[in-house]
Amino acid sequence: MVEHTLVTIGIIGGTGKEGSGLAARWARSGYRVIIGSREAAKAEAKVAEMNAELGSAVLVGADNLSAVQQADIVVLTVPYDAHARTLEGLKDALQGKVVVDVTVPLKPPAVRTVNIPPGQSACMEAQALLGSGVKVVAAFQNVSNTHLQDDEEHVDCDVLVCGDDAQAKEDVIQLAVAAGMRGIDAGPLQNAIAIESLTPVILYINRKYKVKGAGIVITGLEQGKA
Ligand SMILES: NC(=O)c1ccc[n+]([C@@H]2O[C@H](COP(=O)([O-])OP(=O)(O)OC[C@H]3O[C@@H](n4cnc5c(N)ncnc54)[C@H](OP(=O)(O)O)[C@@H]3O)[C@@H](O)[C@H]2O)c1
Repeated sequence: MVEHTLVTIGIIGGTGKEGSGLAARWARSGYRVIIGSREAAKAEAKVAEMNAELGSAVLVGADNLSAVQQADIVVLTVPYDAHARTLEGLKDALQGKVVVDVTVPLKPPAVRTVNIPPGQSACMEAQALLGSGVKVVAAFQNVSNTHLQDDEEHVDCDVLVCGDDAQAKEDVIQLAVAAGMRGIDAGPLQNAIAIESLTPVILYINRKYKVKGAGIVITGLEQGKA
């Protein structure tokens, strides 16, 4: 991957809980980050608030299309019921880019029960919808925004990264590291079926044990060779 400061990340739905948490972490790591929204004014208001907290003017707000057009890497953080519609509207602008899909196909109100969507996983649906000109990578589905939003540099959760393009996956593993986590290559995009499905399990555990940010850590990697 090229130097941090030369990489622009555009976050579709970046005004939300997950996207804004990632945005702040990447901004602190030296990336240029554009927070996207359906309404530019909403993104600009969010960015003003976040830049004040960050103590710099590093984040930029824009409508989702402008965020995509300016980005080297695009991150998608919208609710599943807006997933296909959002991608349809941005399909042309996304051609040639890496799209990091964070979407979990939850089916409210049963958000603590695994839901397999028609295309098997949100990421596979995104890849099918966008076509082979876009490299979809699955990541961050198992990381709660409660951790992303806090000030701790390190987050005690692993990021399982799936995709069918080795370089794109490696770039996203670096994004996980920049956000304070360990990124782990978890195989082809099809493995996103399992990774997306872990999130309802985590949400169940959160409620059962009265915690907010249960997460996944892979053991046994310390002796491994990358
Ligand atoms: N929250 C978490 O802890 C967490 C953890 C892991 C994965 N995820 C996944 O990450 C994604 C985002 O989660 P979130 O909690 O950040 O969601 P959120 O705050 O509810 O929504 C994120 C953004 O999506 C946009 N949006 C909302 N409804 C929309 C619609 N009908 N059409 C188009 N855009 C819409 C909004 O942006 P604008 O109004 O500015 O356009 C909103 O700020 C979800 O798929 C979720 O499953 C979340």
